[in-house]
Parts: sequence; C-alpha cells; structure tokens
Amino acid sequence: MNTILSATNISKIYGKKEASTYTAIRNLSFSMKEGEFIGIMGPSGSGKTTLLNMIATLDPATEGDITINGVSLSAMDENGLSDFRSRQLGFIFQDFNLLETMNAFENIALPLSLQHIAVPQIQATVRQVAGLLGIHDILEKYPAELSGGQKQRTAIARALVHNPALLLADEPTGALDSKNAAALLNTLTELNRSQNASILMVTHDPLSASHCSRLLFIKDGAIAQELHSTGTREQFYRDILEVLGGMDRELVAGGRR
Ligand SMILES: Nc1ncnc2c1ncn2[C@@H]1O[C@H](COP(=O)(O)OP(=O)(O)OP(=O)(O)O)[C@@H](O)[C@H]1O
Ligand SMILES: [Mg+2]
Repeated sequence: MNTILSATNISKIYGKKEASTYTAIRNLSFSMKEGEFIGIMGPSGSGKTTLLNMIATLDPATEGDITINGVSLSAMDENGLSDFRSRQLGFIFQDFNLLETMNAFENIALPLSLQHIAVPQIQATVRQVAGLLGIHDILEKYPAELSGGQKQRTAIARALVHNPALLLADEPTGALDSKNAAALLNTLTELNRSQNASILMVTHDPLSASHCSRLLFIKDGAIAQELHSTGTREQFYRDILEVLGGMDRELVAGGRR
C-alpha cells in the first residue's frame, strides 16, 4: 500500500517574539497509508486543529516536513499550495460551509469549477457522486431548503467530487444530533471501505472515533498513544474509553484540572 501522508519531525511554534512564543506541536512524526481512516483525539488545546491545519496546507510547519501523495509541502510556494489544496485535498467542516446562494449541484461542483473543468464533465461527475451519496433528487435545492442530513451529504459530496488523495475533517459531527452524527460516520466508513478513501478526522467523540481504523492521541503537542482497531467496533469503543480515562486521570493527578 502507498503512503499517502507522512509528517516528519514537525513542530509548530506560534508567535515571533521569544517572550510570547507557544509550541503547539513538538517534534511530531507519523505516516498514513492509502485507505486508512485515522482519528486524532486529545484534550482541548493539545494541538489537534493545529496539526490538521498544517496537513491541510493552511498553515506552514515551523520545523520538519509534511509529504502528501509524494509531494513535499515545504517545497511549494503559495500558488503551488493553493493549487495542490484544491486538487488533492477534500475538506469537511464542522458547520459544512455550504454557500447559501448556490444550489446543491453548484455547491458540489465548486471544486471542479475552480479547476476550469468542462461543463459536461462536471455534470457527469457531480451526478455520479450525488448518486453515491443518495442525494441526486435534491440537487436543484438551496441549502436553506435542505434537511440537516441532506446538507451533510452535500458537503461530503463536495469534499469528494474531485477525487482527492486525502479527506480531512475537523470535528465533523460536532454540530450534529446523535442520529445525524451516526449517519455521517456510517457514510465516511462506507467511503473508506468501498472507495478506499483515505480519511483523517479530528474528533472529541469516542463513538465517532470507534469508526476509525487507527487513533492518535495527542497530548501537549505530541503523540502520547496510538490505538489500532483489531476486533469489533464495540471493543474498540471500550478501548478508547479506557485510554481517555487514563489521560483524564493523568491530568487530574498533574493538578491541571
Ligand atoms: N494562532 C495562534 N496563536 C497562538 N497560539 C495558538 C494559535 N492557535 C492555537 N494556539 C494555541 O495552540 C494550542 C493548540 O491549539 P489547537 O487549536 O490546535 O487545539 P485543539 O487540540 O484543536 O483544541 P480543541 O479541542 O479545543 O479544538 C492551544 O494552546 C492554543 O491556545
Ligand atoms: Mg480544535
């Protein structure tokens, strides 16, 4: 299997003046194979979003390098990064970020329109992805006319329409009720299994995390622990709760809560 992502000794230091710098990620390394579904967990402020933003090419690492699909991010300038981002990465945001003035079709088509792909090809590709997600009959509707679940599937279709090498999600179930959260996780799991989609997801929620094949637990900007799913999802869920319980006990013992 190909390596889709590797981060090598990356650090992120916020702030320029020595007195006000903050190291949010310290000397962190990991790699991800094509078709993996990796979850990132850890306490608030541990550096999860910082890590995801660096992988998303939105914020450069202060030290170290990130390679996605064989391309080193530090070797690219702003234009190169923006082109790379729109071609190789798919994003699912917590609040979905659908554009209200565009209908579902136009929202999904956006990543392709930005690449100036011919209209007939855009139409065919959007229909295919919409079919995959079961939303072909709502494509004419505007976000305000969609249910929560339909909005969510529209956002996933937009994240996938350009066949990205890597799908990134930061707390994708954060704004959803438990029924819609479960539906979103089932869709991601299905995409991972049937399309071999590589997915990296930040989540606080142990139930969401139990859908992943591997979890990285971040603490103080470093990987404190790694957990592989080996048995059933129920077993993985229990293992996750155990790790989180241990991390909580450590925090309490350290007097930081
Ligand atoms: N632009 C910034 N400038 C300075 N410090 C920052 C900046 N962004 C984040 N930080 C700090 O870096 C640390 C990690 O933040 P980050 O947003 O990555 O945490 P997180 O793990 O995503 O937390 P949460 O679970 O609350 O979303 C925090 O202490 C935060 O205050
Ligand atoms: Mg965050």
